[in-house]
Order: sequence, then C-alpha cells, then structure tokens
Amino acid sequence: MASTHSQVSLQTHRTPTSSLPSPAQPGPFGHKQRKNFFMPEGKTEFNHGSYGTFTRSVQENMMKWHNLAEENPDRWVRLDLKPALTKVRTQLAEFMNCDRDELALVQNTTVGVNTVLRSLDFAPGDRILQLSTGYISVDKTVHYICDTHRDVQIIEVPIVMPLTDHEIVFHIEKVIQEHLAKKDGSRIRLAMIDWISSVPAVLHPIKALVDMLRSYGILVFVDAAHAIGQVPIDLTYLNPDFLITNCHKWLYSVRGSAVLFVPKRFQNSIHPTAIQGDYKSGSFELEFSWNGTMDYSTILSIEGALDFRKQYGEDAIIHYCHRLAVEGGEKMAEILGTNVLTPHEQQVGNMVNIRLPIKNINHPKIETPDYLIRLLLDKYNLFAPSYKHGGYFWTRVSSQIYLELGDFVHLGHVWKEVIDELNAEDS
Ligand SMILES: Cc1ncc(COP(=O)(O)O)c(C=O)c1O
Repeated sequence: MASTHSQVSLQTHRTPTSSLPSPAQPGPFGHKQRKNFFMPEGKTEFNHGSYGTFTRSVQENMMKWHNLAEENPDRWVRLDLKPALTKVRTQLAEFMNCDRDELALVQNTTVGVNTVLRSLDFAPGDRILQLSTGYISVDKTVHYICDTHRDVQIIEVPIVMPLTDHEIVFHIEKVIQEHLAKKDGSRIRLAMIDWISSVPAVLHPIKALVDMLRSYGILVFVDAAHAIGQVPIDLTYLNPDFLITNCHKWLYSVRGSAVLFVPKRFQNSIHPTAIQGDYKSGSFELEFSWNGTMDYSTILSIEGALDFRKQYGEDAIIHYCHRLAVEGGEKMAEILGTNVLTPHEQQVGNMVNIRLPIKNINHPKIETPDYLIRLLLDKYNLFAPSYKHGGYFWTRVSSQIYLELGDFVHLGHVWKEVIDELNAEDS
C-alpha cells in the first residue's frame, strides 16, 4: 500500500470476543428474551437493523411520558417537558462520553442529516465526499444540497467489498489526493461517512477515517444510524464534527428517537429543520427542545431503553449480538455453500452479509418488485433483505438478544430452498 498523508492508526473498534454461548454475564439471552419483546409466537425477526424494535419495559416507559402529557398538558409542556428532555440528554452524554449540551434529540437520522446539511453555508467550489455504499436518503439529501447551491458537487468514492480496513481508508484518501492534484480551486468541504453501512452492512474503521479526513481539513459527518447499542461510542475520543445515531434501531427505544451530536464550535450555525419560536434565542438547547406540538414520548423512551440495557448488561448485549452475527453468518454460509462478505471479524457488528448462491443474478423473479419480500413473509413468516453487491447476490441478517444460532440455521435452510427453486427454474 502506498504511503498516506496521515499516519492514522487502524485500531479495532470492539473489545476482544469469546465464543457463544458465554457472553459476559448478565443476560440471559436467546429465546428466553422473547418474552421481553412483542414478536408473536412463530415469528422470528431477522431484520432488526431496518427499524429496530423495543421491549415491553420500554413501551411502559413511553406510556409513562404519554400519560403525563395527556393528564395535564399545560404542566407537561410549560414545566415538565424540558427537564425530562434534559435528563435524557444527560444520560446519553454519559453513555457516549460527551458534553450534554452537545446533544440534540431528533426523530431520526434522516432529520439529523437534513438538520446539519441544510444549515451549513455551502459556497461555490465546495465538494461533498461520500461513499457509494452510503444510505439512500443521505445520498439524496446531498444531491438536494448540490441542486440548491451553485457549484457544489459530489465526489463519490466507489466502495466494493470485501476490502480490509486499510484498503477502505486508502481508497478514500487516494480520491482526496487525486482531487487535490487537480488544483481546480474547489475544496472538499465535508465528508459523509457511515460508521456501519446499511447494505452491505460493514463496520468501518471510523476513528481512522475521522482522523484521516480531518488531517485534510475536511469536516466529517458520521452517519452512525446503526451505531448506538451496536458498538460502544466514545465521542470525546472519536471527535467527529457531526454525528447522528438512531436510538430506535439498536438501543431499543421506540421508533422516532435519535440523537444528534453538534460540538459547541458549530452550534451557532446549526438550526432545526423546522424553525420555531426559539430561533435566534442564542440557545442551541432551546432551539432543539421544541419541535412544535407533537408527542415527545417516543424520544423520551430512550430513558427506558437505557434502563433495560443496564438490567441485562451493556457489554453482554453487545458481545452476544456480535458473536451471534459472526457465528450465525458462518453457519448460514456453510448451509448455502457460500461465504460471508466481510471475513475480517472487526468489520462485523450485529449484521452479517451472506452470499446467496443464485446462478443468474438477473433472474426475473429477483428483479420483480416485492417478489422475495412476499415469498419470505407469506410462505416462511420471516424476512431478511437481499441485494446485489460486487456482482453477487447477498442477504443481510441482523442478530439480536432474542435470537439463537438455531434461528440462523433455520434461515439458512429457508434461503437454500428459495434459491434452489429459482436456480431450478433457470436451468
Ligand atoms: C446507514 C443509514 N443511514 C440512515 C438511515 C435512515 O434512518 P431513519 O430512517 O431512521 O432516518 C438508515 C436507515 O436504515 C441507515 O441504515
């Protein structure tokens, strides 16, 4: 590998692992956890990564806030809401090692990304760097910024996995150096980087990427939609310029709850997507503590999610899900006679990509909208997304504390049956 501008260290991003079924106590995990969630008898959930889910205790916590608001709306809105939001921000700041006042609670990653991108003062000649594996709504928001600003353009780095962590950093840095060599007067102002990409699911060497990008004076926005609850987050150590993470995915809060990190140095220029009465109050906290009249109980359910995680063990949850993803992915690949996309274990969080052995990657049925979705849901009462990447067909499987290795084995056999049938039709 050629030498790079910044000598960044590619530290692994998780603690050492041991084999199932011995996650660091407490737990217990596996099917015993099903009672804490809402999935009905006979339904196994393999797609936690898309929307997350919450526990019964989290729903109770949400209802506590919901009822308080209904019982006495004036007391709630005029006196109690802001302290409740501040308490949640304080708990999250402790969880992510940052200053409480650098956190704003928002509904989701889409809102967080729009909040920052639509606040920044892009100028002609600015370039926004993003990866080809970035999430569609983030990509479209960047396109919107380019469409609404003169001479602001995208620089896209093609990422085709498998790549090692070093190769990922190297690929991106090469694109930056090629851009600098052009000396055309433009500058890469901002980079949008996934901590854990969606499809394919890849846990990126985020510290190395943040350090490398900042060494070129590029602002870094970390799309950490999948990070909180899946990997430990230390914002003081990571030191990004902006970061958004969905609490409703892996932390177990109710859908519509996310946290945006904006360091103090940027707070004067970042405003909510919906401007309200606290604009120009000079207070970032006030601007983000009121989004107009709405139900704040989903956002406040983060409190219940953090309590649940404390009860079952933060490290233990992370450890169990990661080991299950790694071992479950290998089991499925064995059943299918294929491989996982990311053989480097540190690139796997709780989601694993397994190759599906389809002979014809353009098979008419996989090109038919909803065909596989309906087949998996209607015939097998389960679902895992599938997609093409690098000329192959993959499925992404999410592990979770309510799953066991046997569930991955079952899903492996289901996919085998589905793909065998498609291959038979095609021969
Ligand atoms: C990497 C990534 N970014 C952004 C999003 C958007 O999240 P939301 O729909 O909660 O706004 C997702 C959703 O899955 C995602 O996977």
